[in-house]
Amino acid sequence: MKVLIAGGAGFIGSTIASACLDAGITPVILDNLSTGRAEFVENRIFYHGDIADSALVDRIFAEHPDIEAAVHCAALIVVPDSVEHPLRYYRENVGKTVEFLDALVANGCGRFLFSSSAAIYQPGDDFAVDETSPVAATSPYGESKAMVERVLADSVRAYPLRVISLRYFNPVGADPKMRTGLQLPRPSHVLGKMIESARTGATFQVTGADWPTRDGSGIRDYVHVWDLAQAHVEALRRFDTVLAGDRRYEVFNLGTGDGTTVRELLDAFNTVLGRPIPTVVAPRRPGDSAGTYTRSDRARRHLGWAPTLSLAEGIQHSLQWAELRDELLGPADDAARVPAQR
Ligand SMILES: NC(=O)c1ccc[n+]([C@@H]2O[C@H](COP(=O)([O-])OP(=O)(O)OC[C@H]3O[C@@H](n4cnc5c(N)ncnc54)[C@H](O)[C@@H]3O)[C@@H](O)[C@H]2O)c1
Repeated sequence: MKVLIAGGAGFIGSTIASACLDAGITPVILDNLSTGRAEFVENRIFYHGDIADSALVDRIFAEHPDIEAAVHCAALIVVPDSVEHPLRYYRENVGKTVEFLDALVANGCGRFLFSSSAAIYQPGDDFAVDETSPVAATSPYGESKAMVERVLADSVRAYPLRVISLRYFNPVGADPKMRTGLQLPRPSHVLGKMIESARTGATFQVTGADWPTRDGSGIRDYVHVWDLAQAHVEALRRFDTVLAGDRRYEVFNLGTGDGTTVRELLDAFNTVLGRPIPTVVAPRRPGDSAGTYTRSDRARRHLGWAPTLSLAEGIQHSLQWAELRDELLGPADDAARVPAQR
């Protein structure tokens, strides 16, 4: 099987490409390298360009008429950046996806996997969400993902197109074979901050200790990026079974089902590291929420997918990648530091 992976030079897309290769599926990567890395597509079939470039998509299908499905990971993903530049996010994530879909349909590509996000959910009282939980994104980034889901739901009714939308929770770790990982030099999500503290001695801040969670810190569902990638392999393999007959659009949460608080993550991190990092409690940051985790087993039932790697393995692989990153991708550049992502 051959699949087109848009955004396949990025963190998650490159991991999906590796999982596909390991599973005997050939990835064809389309990426504009806006945040992706050329190093992640070395020795892979790669087209450098934009998903909205329909002539390029036509060329890809002319050169690879055996592409059976498209995986769409190409997006801008930085939440605070999306608050500052909403039009950019709606243009890149929504507008360009419309163009991309049009070109895929025109080229007869009717199987589509979409990288959606748990960021679209309205956090409930118990923080647990399933695929039927209310959608109410709190940022233009999250809204762009929810909008694309609506575009997809309408499109499957009108075109020869079927879609699986995969709502990722909080990816951690790296390819266990260390082919790829997070490309940012100093990611500022919570695990990135812990790693920075471990490497530089900077004090780690638990931002918010007054959330209504079991220990007052925010709660998330940390899923290993390699497990996420495996879910795509399963979704590709089972696509025609999952979407048979009238079923043309399905949504799956991809999380572990275990909510982990920041304090619990910190304990797990210190255990893996073998020493405690310096820590203080700080006030909540604007725009933060208590968080969510999945309570759904739909992906298990329909895709036969369940996470296999532990939180400790996710932390271990993130630490291992952080040690390798500068060597593989060049020295960290402070100017490249990007604010917190989802
Ligand atoms: N990282 C997370 O925490 C997270 C959580 C939930 C969902 N997601 C979704 O997963 C997907 C991948 O995220 P990631 O963390 O790998 O981000 P990333 O920035 O590492 O990867 C995105 C890739 O898409 C490429 N790209 C962006 N716009 C493009 C365009 N117009 N044309 C061609 N290529 C383009 C970038 O160069 C990059 O390689 C995104 O759709 C994101 O919304 C990510």
